[in-house]
Amino acid sequence: MSSTYKAVEVSAAGVLRVVERPISEPGPGQVRIRVEACGICHSDAATVTGTYPGLTLPRVPGHEVVGRVDALGSGVSRWKIGQRVGVGLIAGEDGTCEPCRRGDSVNCQNPVVSGVTVDGGYAEMMIAEARGLASIPDELSSAEAAPLLCAGITTYNALRNAGLRGGDLVAVQGIGGLGHLGIQFARHMGFHTVAIGRGSDKEKLAKDLGAHVYIDTAVDDAVALLQRMSGARAVLATAPSGDSMGSLVSGLAVRGKLIVVGVPQDQIHLNAFPLVFGGRSIYGSLTGTAIDQEDTLAFSVLEDIRPMIETVPLEQAAEAYARMMQGKARFRTVLVTKNVKS
Ligand SMILES: NC(=O)c1ccc[n+]([C@@H]2O[C@H](COP(=O)([O-])OP(=O)(O)OC[C@H]3O[C@@H](n4cnc5c(N)ncnc54)[C@H](OP(=O)(O)O)[C@@H]3O)[C@@H](O)[C@H]2O)c1
Ligand SMILES: [Zn+2]
Ligand SMILES: [Zn+2]
Repeated sequence: MSSTYKAVEVSAAGVLRVVERPISEPGPGQVRIRVEACGICHSDAATVTGTYPGLTLPRVPGHEVVGRVDALGSGVSRWKIGQRVGVGLIAGEDGTCEPCRRGDSVNCQNPVVSGVTVDGGYAEMMIAEARGLASIPDELSSAEAAPLLCAGITTYNALRNAGLRGGDLVAVQGIGGLGHLGIQFARHMGFHTVAIGRGSDKEKLAKDLGAHVYIDTAVDDAVALLQRMSGARAVLATAPSGDSMGSLVSGLAVRGKLIVVGVPQDQIHLNAFPLVFGGRSIYGSLTGTAIDQEDTLAFSVLEDIRPMIETVPLEQAAEAYARMMQGKARFRTVLVTKNVKS
């Protein structure tokens, strides 16, 4: 067996390059994973540009990781060699900070963050915390499962935790990696589903994914159209554009919620009037825990929900990342390694 593995690291801000690294052993409570697939999430930009708080370079990005357990560190009994597992963004909590002690581990103040505090899944091998792993159901291929571990869980959790009821009008804004799964989850959770995109090219795709209504902000006034439908109970905002989010508060029904999952570089501007008169609200939602991953995967199997993916060999990560940043991925590019067996 080779003593090295291939990885794609950010060696300096903006530079993704293929490197060979020595294979290392997992520490106590960790496993080594032979990576089969890793999705390219827009959040990887915070690693590639070197802007994620606390990040040091070089760093291997990637937090939609699926592979097989290859070696067990001491004290790991839950996982078996050869078992297929997944790793998301928040891949281990400290268990001791105040949110952890209150049972809110996704908001751990000192988390293990894949591709940020530790090397992620743009690689043939990865070391991960055993407590942060999700089990992958047999019904999903590794490439299909990967995007569900960030884009999927983020939209699934945000929708299921929003206090919505069947039949509610729910809009998903931004139709990319997150949004195209958000549309499917909203539809399969029984919501009257609206997709909000810019441009007519995504209308058919959005409807094929389950949207009842498509709003094209290039030609339509999203707020007016939502209000004509009596206002949305929730808008799930996934676009990496603050400028496009704030006005959507006015498209909410009384007590409606703008749920921010996109993390734009620019500010979100808000008008207090619709917030106060009508008790509307805005809040953020961060991915989820390992058990939430398993719920997301199980719901996707149950309802036959799959990400729409394009697979690319690991070695082409830099080109694939650039395509994602240009909005050209339909809808998630997944890096696959030579470890994957078809
Ligand atoms: N909260 C969390 O835990 C979490 C988890 C994962 C990702 N994120 C964040 O979520 C955001 C989306 O990630 P992603 O992986 O889905 O990105 P993506 O695949 O690049 O998709 C983003 C989509 O937003 C659309 N968009 C951009 N500006 C828009 C605008 N003004 N109006 C409508 N649509 C617009 C783009 O469409 P066009 O084709 O029109 O450009 C693109 O399809 C990123 O900010 C990412 O960091 C957050
Ligand atoms: Zn904690
Ligand atoms: Zn992500």
